[in-house]
Amino acid sequence: MTSQCDQTEILDATPAGISRAGTILRGGGLVAIPTETVYGLAGDARNPAAVSAIFAAKGRPAHNPLIVHVADLDMALALARPDTTARALAQHFWPGALTLVAPLRDGHGLAPAVTAGLNTVALRMPAHPAAQALLAAFGGPVAAPSANPSGQISPTTAAHVMAGLSGRIAAVLDGGACPVGVESTIIGTDDTDRTVVLRAGGISPEMMADVLGYMPVPAQVTSITAPGQLASHYAPRASVRLNARAPEGSEVWIGFGPDCAGADFTLSAKGDLAEAASQLFAILHKADATGRPIAVAPVPEHGLGLAINDRLRRAAAPREI
Ligand code: TXA
Ligand code: MG
Repeated sequence: MTSQCDQTEILDATPAGISRAGTILRGGGLVAIPTETVYGLAGDARNPAAVSAIFAAKGRPAHNPLIVHVADLDMALALARPDTTARALAQHFWPGALTLVAPLRDGHGLAPAVTAGLNTVALRMPAHPAAQALLAAFGGPVAAPSANPSGQISPTTAAHVMAGLSGRIAAVLDGGACPVGVESTIIGTDDTDRTVVLRAGGISPEMMADVLGYMPVPAQVTSITAPGQLASHYAPRASVRLNARAPEGSEVWIGFGPDCAGADFTLSAKGDLAEAASQLFAILHKADATGRPIAVAPVPEHGLGLAINDRLRRAAAPREI
């Protein structure tokens, strides 16, 4: 059922593996867990030592708050007070790739570092069956940022998690490749109480329009509304060139759509955005392993293309260090 690797246990997503993961969480340890979006680095959100260990394992700056994962809407409502619009979105899209930022409720019990001192908390009910089983067995809120060293490419397989965090966390629960492949969409409210998108993700504005009656727009980003959204992120070691219709020099070329025959990798040969999202991080990991500069073909700026282009722009952004 388990194997050891640099003291990080690899657990199968079986009842026995999920039970072991729950035991580790209850003891204040960290377990990387599969979700439908990306792997998360899970710890007990009420335990200050566990939360502090998450920041330490990732090398994450303390000002960047964590997403809290819940088993159901009731658990979310014990922690926060989402407005009626956010509740309607949760009712429609949970379990799934949607995170709500909502005001904290008095007596929430979360470790203060989870929210980095903000008076709001980010909440999500994941759809992956192994994550759901673990949350139900654990019975409390679980803080889980993406299970990668801060600033690096997000993990969509247990092997990606091990490549970044092996030896720094107690275990990884191996639930296979994450089907959505990009992180959740984060929604919040602006200062006129309008619902806005803080981070593009697995639920597109077009999908939310079916519930809202309008397409929510991106927030005007400030350090307070989206603390983790400003820096270079998802950064491969190599440089990344966007909107590349052909490779130049030694570049490894990532294609999208039928016009990219001859690409080294393709996000989706048929130009399907859901397929491209599900492949994005795995292909960035593989392209980076070649050690060559990376060039990426244009991806349309609608639907899941918004999340894909957001991640690509940040992969290509100048590094801060
Ligand atoms: O799909 C996902 O959302 C994955 C899986 C594991 O659930 N998690 C994830 O977590 O992407 P992370 O930590 O990599 O990204 C969380 C983002 C950060 O950009 C953080 O700044 C933002 O959520 N965030 C968390 N709490 C917030 C808050 N109260 N207000 C605004 N942004 C918040
Ligand atoms: Mg992340």
